[in-house]
Amino acid sequence: NTTLRAAAAAKGRYFGAATSSFMFSDTQHVTILNREFNSIVAENEMKWDATEPNQNQFTFTGGDRLVAHARANGMSVRGHALVWHAQQPRWAQNLSGTALRNAMINHITRVATHYRGQIHSWDVVNEAFADGGSGGRRDSNLQRTGNDWIEVAFRTARAADPTAKLCYNDYNTDGVNAKSTGIYNMVRDFKARGVPIDCVGFQSHLGTGLASDYQANLQRFADLGVDVQITELDVAQGSSQASIYERVTRACLAVTRCTGITVWGVRDSDSWRRGENPLLFDGNGNKKPAYTAVLNALNSG
Ligand code: G3I
Repeated sequence: NTTLRAAAAAKGRYFGAATSSFMFSDTQHVTILNREFNSIVAENEMKWDATEPNQNQFTFTGGDRLVAHARANGMSVRGHALVWHAQQPRWAQNLSGTALRNAMINHITRVATHYRGQIHSWDVVNEAFADGGSGGRRDSNLQRTGNDWIEVAFRTARAADPTAKLCYNDYNTDGVNAKSTGIYNMVRDFKARGVPIDCVGFQSHLGTGLASDYQANLQRFADLGVDVQITELDVAQGSSQASIYERVTRACLAVTRCTGITVWGVRDSDSWRRGENPLLFDGNGNKKPAYTAVLNALNSG
C-alpha cells in the first residue's frame, strides 16, 4: 500500500491526524489529509472553551465542519476532549463544588449528544494524573469536586452516546512508570466495578528517545480488557526521529487491541511543536524519512 490510511486499514487499524476547520482552505494541507488519513481529530475545536464559551450556550461550528469533512472523505472522527483541567472557558475556571460538577455533567451530555453516532472514540477525560512519582491525581478544580469526578464523566458520556468508545487520555505514559501505573490502577478498578471505559489513549509526545517498554506498557493496559490508541503522536526531529516513529508503529501493530494511531498534525509547520519539526511531512508538504519509516512498518509483517 502506498498511503498510510490504506496500509493501516490492511492491518485493521486507522491512521489519523489532528486538524482544524480553518485548515480546510489550505489546499496542500487538505490534499495530504485526504490522501493519507482515515481518521481526524479536532486539535482544539471540540474542547470545552470552544464548544461552550458561555455557560449553557453551545457552539459546534468548527467541530461540525470537521465531522462533515470526515464524512465526505471516508474518514472517521476521534472526539477530543470532553473534560480537561486546561482550555476550560473562563466561567468554568471560576466554578467549584456542586456547581462545577453539574456544569461538567451538562457539558458532557450536550456535546456527546450533539455528536452521538459520529465519533468512533471520545477522550472523555484528558490529563487527570500528576506528573512525577506520586502516581496520583493532578490537582485541578475538577479533582477538587471529589475523586469520583472521572467515573461520573464516563457514566455521563456513556448515557449520552452509547456508540462511542470512551477513552481516558494522557501524556508521559510511554513506559511503565508511576504515572502510567496510577492510570493502570484506575482502569483496573473501573473494569472491576463496571464503570464504562473502553480505551486508553497514549498521547506519545516524544523526544529523542523512546521507553524500551513502550509496547509492554500498551500490552498491560490491553490485558485489562480495554483498547489502546496512540492519540497525539509527534517526535522531536533528530537522527532518531524515523526510528522512533517506526518503533511506535510496530508496537501498535504488535498489540492486538491497539486500534489506531493519530499524529498531532500534518506538516511540521502545522505543529504546536513546530520548532522541533516533529511530524511526518515538512513545511512544504514533502514526505520525510519518518513518513517512509511508518509506511514501511505498516506494510511489513
Ligand atoms: O483561539 C485563540 C485565538 O482566538 C487567538 O487569537 C490566539 C492567539 O494566541 O489563540 C487562540 O487559541 C490558541 C489555541 O491553541 C487555538 O489555536 C491558544 O492560545 C493555544 O494555547 C492553543 O494551543 C493548543 C493547546 O493544546 C492548548 O493547551 C494547541 O493548538 C494544541 O495542539 C494543544 O493540544 C494538546 C492536546 O489538546 C492535549 N494534549 C497535549 C496537546 C499539546 O499541548
